[in-house]
Amino acid sequence: MARLELESYRRAVHEVAQALAPGWERHRARIEEAVTPVRDLMLTELAPRPGDTVLELAAGAGDTGFEAAAIVGETGRLISTDFSSAMVEVARRRGTALGLGNVDYRVMDAEHIELEADSVDGVLCRFGYMLMPDPAVALAETRRVLRAGRRLTLSVWGAPEGNPWVTILARMLVERGHVPPPTPGDPDAFCMASQDRTRALLEGAGFATVRMVEVPVRFVYRDVDDFMTVATDTAGPLAMVIRGLSESERQAITRQLGKAFAGFAADGGYRLPGLSLNAVAS
Ligand SMILES: C[S@@+](CC[C@H](N)C(=O)[O-])C[C@H]1O[C@@H](n2cnc3c(N)ncnc32)[C@H](O)[C@@H]1O
Repeated sequence: MARLELESYRRAVHEVAQALAPGWERHRARIEEAVTPVRDLMLTELAPRPGDTVLELAAGAGDTGFEAAAIVGETGRLISTDFSSAMVEVARRRGTALGLGNVDYRVMDAEHIELEADSVDGVLCRFGYMLMPDPAVALAETRRVLRAGRRLTLSVWGAPEGNPWVTILARMLVERGHVPPPTPGDPDAFCMASQDRTRALLEGAGFATVRMVEVPVRFVYRDVDDFMTVATDTAGPLAMVIRGLSESERQAITRQLGKAFAGFAADGGYRLPGLSLNAVAS
């Protein structure tokens, strides 16, 4: 992508985050429930210590970092950041509800981290880097602010085949002419799904040690209407597309999804699998 296109992509991602922040806040608990295995692994691998300063990038509603805040305690600090001011306010409300007093909330683009070099003891970024126009720049910035020997733990979405919770809808919207097919190489939810690419990005940013593991997750829905409600409120650019559909097209897609989800029926609803790729780098 040319630089100009990257900038318009950045603006589009920012606009979507601003628009979806209320939906992310509304569905926060069920999103967290689905991706708990990812959050748990990230915290275990980060291994923060009391007194540490931890930075969370693209924090959204902030729960991954808030677990670190509880561990680093009164003598430590979490810097919870996102480039969407609306998301930062969601995180601030959540951190306040949790009674956390050691969190700085900051609007910050991960490609321009406004912190001194070697100033943090750990970095978390869950489902963020793959949405950034230039993940290489964001990872180099991450390396710059991270103290030697300390860790970055990140997660991105793994292969599309492992993520029917979003790919079934995405494919349907392409087939029905509402979105263009993805262009290989452009940033999107799966552009860091390849372990080779993610490793190369991390090594290119100066991380000497990189380990990766895939973590399965499950999204649970009562029925197709429940899925459509959550997708309309939270599913990134797809949410914006669904919001613009006519009522009859929305109903047609809901019916088609009912058939496509049949293989995932469980407990009177649906359990849709997802697969995340997690990396630990230092
Ligand atoms: C899929 S959400 C994930 C939120 C949260 N980390 C989680 O796992 O629940 C992606 C988040 O990345 C943020 N984001 C995207 N590009 C960013 C950038 N360049 N700098 C900082 N945040 C960014 C969005 O605003 C959004 O809150």
